Formats: sequence, structure tokens, C-alpha cells
Amino acid sequence: MKQLSARIISHQQVFAGLERPAARSTSGSWLMWLKCPGIAGEAVPGQFVMVRCGAESVLPRPFSLHRVNDNGDIALLYAVWEGGKGTGWLSRRQAGDKIELFGPLGNGFSVFPASRHLLLVAGGMGIAPLRFLADVAVRQKKAVTLLMGALSAGHLLPDASPPQELLTDGIPPFNLDIIKVTEDGSAGFKGLATDLIVNHIDRVDQVFACGPVGMYRTMAALSESFPKLKSAQVSLEMRMACGLGTCYGCTIKTKRGLAQVCRDGPVFDLQDVDWEALRPV
Ligand code: FES
Repeated sequence: MKQLSARIISHQQVFAGLERPAARSTSGSWLMWLKCPGIAGEAVPGQFVMVRCGAESVLPRPFSLHRVNDNGDIALLYAVWEGGKGTGWLSRRQAGDKIELFGPLGNGFSVFPASRHLLLVAGGMGIAPLRFLADVAVRQKKAVTLLMGALSAGHLLPDASPPQELLTDGIPPFNLDIIKVTEDGSAGFKGLATDLIVNHIDRVDQVFACGPVGMYRTMAALSESFPKLKSAQVSLEMRMACGLGTCYGCTIKTKRGLAQVCRDGPVFDLQDVDWEALRPV
């Protein structure tokens, strides 16, 4: 784990704001690239960093590692929550500014060497850590099917990113299938990413997911009919104060007892979490 000051290479808004009557709204989502070789050299997909978001926010904030490249750069993809002081402060930083952060933290996804085909299920901003996983898996010549779900076309990662950019390392053969799913049908399949799991589950070796708690509850229900889903690895988003396992602010109930998301996760097996006891962030 490194604690350091990193220079912002680029910073841009990638998604429009999101009005959600029953949940917290966002005023947009941003992609920030940082020069950060100390963290890039150690990070694995599924891990996160804690970012100090200026004097307006006392506590550091957790952000999934969205991408890591061979130049020692890391990318964070994050939503700016309505009224959120920390993410609001971060969104106003510009290329050339420096921010303080520490990481990489937590336990990432575990891809078994024998697994040849991975199914990735992304709900909304859940694409953040899964993109890093897809990059690494493709480099390892694994087949990847990515179900990329969002509210509408404007909330999917721009076409300029996947899949072409995944190939810039020029490591054919690759096998990456990105299936877009939108709730309003404005791009790809109309529905939820979880609607398509049954179409792919039989031909993949492992399943990885990141999305809202409701998505995991659906997957847990589906796992009664598709046992392979029980061992799906899912990444939890949780409010965190320390990120280091010392404040117990991110404690959840699992079938093995209490666990800290920052230290024991953020990746858990789907079957291990008590989904009924878990409250959405
Ligand atoms: Fe403090 Fe997890 S954030 S224990």
C-alpha cells in the first residue's frame, strides 16, 4: 500500500447526470487518469484507492481502479453524487493538479488459471472495476463476455473506449464480446444485464459482477436455478471512513460472520453475503 501525491493527466465527463426518484441522483460521471506508478505497479482488478477530496470532505473516499496501463497510469471512473462534497470537489480538479491518495487496497477478483471464458456483469457504474478485469483477462487470452447494463445509451461507456482500445497492445488473438443492455431500450437489448445471464451461464467458467445491491439479489435468486452463479465474485460498494479495516464503518453480515468490506472485500462470493441484511449505499 502506497500513500502518495499523483498528478492528473486528463479528466473528462463521460456520462450525463442521472435523475433517480427513489435513489440518490448524480450530476454526471467522470473519468480521471492519474500518473501513479507506485499504485499501478501493484494493483490487481477489483482493488480500490482512497482519495483525499480536499478540505470540504474530512474523510477520504473509496474509488475502484477502472484501468491501469503499462506507463504507470491509473484511471478512476466515478459518479458525482448530488450534494456530494467529496466527489463534487474531485470533479472540479483539472489536468496538472495533484491529488492525495493511498492504495491499492482490498482483495481483488480471483481468476482461476484454468478458466478460459469469463462472464462479466456490469450494472451502471459497476463497469468501473470490470473494465480493468476485462483488460487483464483479454491480455491473458481468456474469452470475455461483458454484459454492460445502463439506464440508457447515454450512460454506457462511449463507443470510442471498448472494445477497440482493449486491443492497442496488439495481442491477438482476443475474444471479447460486449453486449449492451439498456433499461429504456435506447441501445442494445432492452432490459437489465441480469436478464441475459441465463443465455451465457452454461458456456462460461466464472462469473464476475459489479452493480447495485438489487442486481446481486436478483443474481442470488437466479443461483437457485443456476448453481454456477453461487460462486460468482461480486464487488461491493460501501461507504468507507478509513479503508484499512480499523474503523468498522463498512461492516457487513456474511454467512461466515461479520466482515469489513474494505479489508475482507470489496470482492465477495455471491453466496457468502447476507443480501437481505445488506442496505444499499
Ligand atoms: Fe474503516 Fe472499512 S472503512 S473498517
